[in-house]
Amino acid sequence: MEKIVFASNNAHKLEEVRSKLSSYFQVKSLKEIGCNDDIPETANTFVGNAELKTLWVLEKYGYDCFADDSGIEIEALDNRPGVFSARYAGEDCSFDDNNKKVLAELEGVSNRNAKFSTTICLKLNGETHFFVGEIEGEIVSEYVGDKGFGYDPIFVPKGYDRSFAQMTLDEKNKISHRALAIEKMLDFLNKQ
Ligand code: IMP
Repeated sequence: MEKIVFASNNAHKLEEVRSKLSSYFQVKSLKEIGCNDDIPETANTFVGNAELKTLWVLEKYGYDCFADDSGIEIEALDNRPGVFSARYAGEDCSFDDNNKKVLAELEGVSNRNAKFSTTICLKLNGETHFFVGEIEGEIVSEYVGDKGFGYDPIFVPKGYDRSFAQMTLDEKNKISHRALAIEKMLDFLNKQ
């Protein structure tokens, strides 16, 4: 069986990928290859950061692998926070700090368009492939819902009247940026 490393220790992401990948690929987490490194994410694009993580694993551990990088881009904020989504309100900030900052910056702004985006980089047999998943929506003016994480309580996907934080994990996983990018990569891998 071909071994492939997912450059992540996020148990939920690993479970999702494993359940959808054909039995031909065995997916290993970073921990399972003995990697406890805090891999630097110093690029200023999703593509750049996803590739940095794969290069780290390939060069240091010698495994074919894939990695993802995500964030939210808000039109009226010139697509910020984008690649800085995790630390938008500063180092060590909470999800709540980030959401409050966004809502404050959008106060009185009528353009609420935003989009979540995930890029996956895959290094396989000496080649590099990228898969992008996006979901458009709007930033609401106050928190709604208590599920999910990150910007979920302030983001309502297009065509829905509920925020990501009002959806069950199953519902969100059917339409999310990450799910779309993962599906594209799995389609590709399952054809190998
Ligand atoms: P990551 O690259 O998946 O770790 O995402 C980086 C940051 O983007 C997270 O810390 C969140 O702030 C934000 N983010 C990414 N995906 C989501 C999502 O599905 N919901 C809410 N926030 C997200």
